[in-house]
Parts: sequence; structure tokens; C-alpha cells
Amino acid sequence: MIRVNNTIVNVLIGVIIGFFLSFILSPFGSSANLPKFQYLQALIFDNNTIQHHHDAHSESELDESHVPDSPMHFHVNGSKFHKHEDNSLSEEIAKRVKIFCWILTGKQNHEKRARHVKATWAQRCNKYIFMSSDDDPSLPAINLNISEGRDHLWAKTKAAFTYLHKNYLNEYDWFLKADDDTYVIVENLRYLLMPHSSDEPVFYGCKFKPFTKQGYMSGGAGYVLSRAALDIFVSKGLKNPIKCSPGEGGAEDAEMGKCLEKLGVKAGDSRDAEGHHRFLPFVPEHHLIPGHVDPSFWFWHYIYYPIDQGPGCCSDYAVSFHYVNSNMMYVLEYLIYHLRPFGVQSSMQSLIPSYNNSNLIKSAYESAIQNMGNDDVFKKNVSDIDKLLKL
Ligand SMILES: *[C@@H]1O[C@H](CO)[C@@H](O)[C@H](O)[C@H]1NC(C)=O
Ligand SMILES: *[C@@H]1O[C@H](CO)[C@@H](O)[C@H](O)[C@H]1NC(C)=O
Ligand SMILES: *[C@@H]1O[C@H](CO)[C@@H](O)[C@H](O)[C@H]1NC(C)=O
Ligand SMILES: *[C@@H]1O[C@H](CO)[C@@H](O)[C@H](O)[C@H]1NC(C)=O
Ligand SMILES: *[C@@H]1O[C@H](CO)[C@@H](O)[C@H](O)[C@H]1NC(C)=O
Repeated sequence: MIRVNNTIVNVLIGVIIGFFLSFILSPFGSSANLPKFQYLQALIFDNNTIQHHHDAHSESELDESHVPDSPMHFHVNGSKFHKHEDNSLSEEIAKRVKIFCWILTGKQNHEKRARHVKATWAQRCNKYIFMSSDDDPSLPAINLNISEGRDHLWAKTKAAFTYLHKNYLNEYDWFLKADDDTYVIVENLRYLLMPHSSDEPVFYGCKFKPFTKQGYMSGGAGYVLSRAALDIFVSKGLKNPIKCSPGEGGAEDAEMGKCLEKLGVKAGDSRDAEGHHRFLPFVPEHHLIPGHVDPSFWFWHYIYYPIDQGPGCCSDYAVSFHYVNSNMMYVLEYLIYHLRPFGVQSSMQSLIPSYNNSNLIKSAYESAIQNMGNDDVFKKNVSDIDKLLKL
């Protein structure tokens, strides 16, 4: 009698422990459980100083003990660029590849984060807006009228894209979603997108594997939808609860990925031709220094394309980093746009064999095509340049 009881109790304990472990350890929990589940993982791997959180705008744990009192500007006499630096090519490209950036934030982060995003990279978007829980014309931020917190993130994303669709669909080519702790090198985003028509139903970002066949883009590193993708998403997807979840909650990036997949929007390959990643889900240090990201970390199960730890992690034309606090925004700003090794310049000549100074823009397109990811669904070759130039 006692023996039987013991056996039953043992079996029961085993089942309970097994169930609990599989819940904690499985990298592919059901998406309904996702936010809570990832929070659990975040706690477990807390010592990696990396927390996976989908609502960076409200609950992330960046070190913000010492942020700048007010926005800072490196401008030299009103110019964002060095006096002797020629940015005419990037200006020309900006006219052809028009990017609308929307930055997910919350009213508690306007001072601490949004102002510094505005003072740094956001300026380089053709237009930008902060999507928030409060209006603030000085940013500008708009109140989406959706509750704060991780249970409403998907609703916020849907409301934000709906707003862009209604007001800006035809004025811009690409629509970038970023968090208020994402840093974006906007010129490199245009370089990635140049070989594409915004009529292609495609989106780019840091591609993760679960929940989808074709992959989805991690929310924190930012992701960008073509005009066609935005249109399909809002005009078809949001009207169809079978394709796109009608709820408020869930991981917004995974929900977005599942929805876009069902709508036939392709998950692009944002790596460069050498397979180096351009959308990076952590700060540079955590990619560049091996050992920062624990081998058992959820990240390795999620990432779609292999990624090196060490200098091979990241493309020289990287587009974004995540978990960037305000201080690091200014550090990156300085390192990328101001600090220069004297006497060294990147030269288009060395990038493009058939470089032609009197037709710089054509050479730039050639370079962008040569640097496309190998798995890009909308691959181009040099014979497409003339068509791209006419877009
Ligand atoms: C995490 O770090 C703290 C202090 O840095 C240390 O006391 C603790 O043992 C670490 N935990 C693990 C699981 O490594
Ligand atoms: C900025 O402009 C002022 C007035 O035009 C000039 O005197 C000064 O040298 C300039 N500073 C730099 C760093 O170019
Ligand atoms: C939020 O609500 C206010 C007040 O009703 C309204 O003026 C505003 O347009 C709403 N915002 C959005 C994005 O719909
Ligand atoms: C360079 O581009 C210009 C303008 O398109 C063209 O006239 C010229 O032939 C090109 N030169 C070479 C070497 O391709
Ligand atoms: C270039 O791409 C086009 C389609 O965009 C294709 O028809 C053509 O064969 C390709 N040319 C080369 C040289 O690969």
C-alpha cells in the first residue's frame, strides 16, 4: 500500500518537475505564453547583463543611473557633418530611399530616452515620430490611446502602423519601427534598401526562427517594412483576424512576423554579402567580445542565420544596435559621425571596381547590390541598376 503510494507520488512529482522544466527551458514556448516566459528567461540569465524584453519602452533594465540632463549636439556650426566631409552622396540617396522612422516609447521615457534619440540618429530619417502614451509636440510624440505595458504592445504596433498608413503611406518608401533604446545608422539602412523597390512586399530586420516558417524580425533591433508591406499589413491583415491576431497582447515582433508571413510578405535577409549581420540585437560590446552571450542563452535558439561572437559578428555597414542607453547613443554618435582617423577615408573606388566619379549614384547602387545578403528573396544584379535609378 505504502509502496504503491510512493510510486504514484514519485510519478506525480516527476511529471510536475518535467512539465515545469520544459516550460522554462524550451526555446519555443507557445506564443500565448511568450511575454511571461521570456521574462522568466530574462531572470534566469540575468548575469549576462542582457535581458530579453519586448517592451523596451517600459520595463527594460538599462543602466540609466547617469543620463545626460539635456540633449547634446555635436553640430559644428549648424552642420551635422565635418567641415571637410562630403555627404552629398548620402543626401542624394536620402532623396531616393525615403524612410519614415517610428519609435516606440512611453510617456515615462520621453525625458530619459526619447529626447536623446531625437538628438542623435532620428534626425537622419526622412521623417520620424515617437509613438507613445502621451502627446508631446516637442519630440514629436503622439498618444496612441493604448494602455501601457507588455500586454498591449501588439495593439500599439498595430495602431502605430495604422496611423502611418493613414497619413504617410504615399510619401515615404520604407517604414522603420525602432525602440527608444535602439540606435540606427540610417545611411546604412538606406544602403541595405537601395537595391529594392518599395513595391516589393518585404521586411528586414534581425531574423529570428520560432513561430514562423520564414522567420520574423526581432523587435528590439528594429525592423523595416516596404510601402507595399505596410499597405498589405494595414489594408488586408488588420481586417482579417485569421491572419493577424486581433488581440492587444503577445510579443509584438512575433505577432507581426506570423501575420506578415500569412499575408505573403517576405522576411528579407539583411546580412551583407559576407554574411555579417547588419541588424544587431545587443550593444556592440556584447557582439564584439566573445563570451558575453551565454551559450545556453535563448538567443542562440532564436537567431535565424548564424552569428559570430567577435569581430566577425557585425557588418562594417551595420544598421542597428539594441539596449543602447542614452549615454551610449552619444558615444555611438561620436564614434560613427565625428571621430576620424586623420588621413584615412573610405573610398568608393576601392568598394566598386567600375567606380565612376561622374556617376557616383550609379556606383553606389552597384555597391549596394554587390553587398546584398545571399538569401535575399529579391536579389538584384548590375543589369537592374538602370531600373532602380528610375524608381
Ligand atoms: C550572478 O552574479 C552575482 C553577483 O554578480 C553572483 O553573486 C551570482 O552567483 C551570479 N549567479 C550566477 C547564476 O552566476
Ligand atoms: C563657426 O562659425 C564662426 C562664425 O562664422 C567662426 O568664427 C568659427 O570659426 C566657426 N567654427 C568652426 C569650428 O568652424
Ligand atoms: C487619441 O485620443 C485623442 C482624444 O480622443 C484624439 O484626439 C487622438 O487623435 C487619438 N490618437 C490617435 C492616434 O488616434
Ligand atoms: C561615367 O559616367 C558618365 C555619366 O553617366 C558617363 O558619361 C561616362 O561614360 C562614364 N565613364 C565610364 C568610364 O564608364
Ligand atoms: C539579372 O537579374 C535578372 C532579373 O532581375 C535576370 O533576368 C538576369 O538573368 C540576371 N543577370 C545576370 C547576369 O545574372
